[in-house]
Amino acid sequence: MIVLGIESSCDETAAAVYGDRGLLSNVIASQTVHEQFGGVVPELASRAHHKTISATVQQALAEADVAPGEVDCIGVTQGPGLMGSLLVGLCFAKGFSLAHDVPLIGVNHMNAHIYANFIDDTPAYPFVALTVSGGHTRLELVRAAFQHKKLGETRDDAAGEAFDKIGKLLGLSYPAGPVMDRHAKGGDPSTFDFPQAMIDQGYEFSFSGLKTAVRYFLDEKREADSEFISNYLADICASVSHAITEVLVVKLKRALENHGIDTAVLAGGVAANSMLRHKVDERVRQAGYRVYIPKMAYCTDNAAMIAITAYMKAQRGEMEGVDVRPYARLSERQ
Ligand code: KG4
Ligand code: ZN
Repeated sequence: MIVLGIESSCDETAAAVYGDRGLLSNVIASQTVHEQFGGVVPELASRAHHKTISATVQQALAEADVAPGEVDCIGVTQGPGLMGSLLVGLCFAKGFSLAHDVPLIGVNHMNAHIYANFIDDTPAYPFVALTVSGGHTRLELVRAAFQHKKLGETRDDAAGEAFDKIGKLLGLSYPAGPVMDRHAKGGDPSTFDFPQAMIDQGYEFSFSGLKTAVRYFLDEKREADSEFISNYLADICASVSHAITEVLVVKLKRALENHGIDTAVLAGGVAANSMLRHKVDERVRQAGYRVYIPKMAYCTDNAAMIAITAYMKAQRGEMEGVDVRPYARLSERQ
């Protein structure tokens, strides 16, 4: 079986081919138009997807050495995401499905981040999944393929959003998560004490208070020293990263212990964060748990994760017709 996967939920136009022999290609066209605005502009994202999707799919097929007629089924991100962006990928996939008479499979982007772990590995069920991206922060108990029970999620900002918004306050380019990660490596995480919201209880997260705390902190410090940010950038980045990753790792470990689960799976763009990886390694893996983290390219948005999730659904016979509908939020799923 050969599956063509398409991802267009946010600001990456991506296509990948996954088959019985594994991943055959994985192409990403990242949109740079948003950098000047410090965040994704939905209208510009849709236009950029429309401009590049055809060439991106063609490149993914060419790199996999697969002709369009050899594709057995097509998987496409159905949601959650920006509606205009989702529609571009979905309409392209529907056209491809009709033209080549192949089934279409709608893929939940959040699930796909988790199943990215199956590209190079085979995590055993049950496991606890921590999905941390620009739009979501979520802990789930996954008992079997596609049997997910939500344990908790963020009440406001996602972890990646916190990195991006705080990075913007520091004058860093968008997306600020990877930039803060780089600066944090040269800093001391214990320099400044930032809030670790809701760390003592449950599985819910909240990161908007951290952003506000950092804003007031910077305003105050800059009054006394206009060069404060440039003088302490590495220490600020390390201290902020510490506050965010501490909450994530403590709650992940709590979920594992309370549910008697011995396997943890990380997913989403923030799973690329080196301080989070280091803490999970030290405090979860070295405590005896099995830990899976996708390689960097499969952490941030990509189509390989869409293709493998569609492949897994196809193997279960979960094929759909061309009436797959997009949903901007998980709660709008029909
Ligand atoms: O999963 P993803 O590509 O897109 C969403 O589905 O949201 O995640 C993007 C997010 C952005 O907020 C970005 O700043 C963050 O992941 N990110 C990082 C790192 N790499 C990407 N955050 C912290 N450290 C990183 N190394
Ligand atoms: Zn994502």
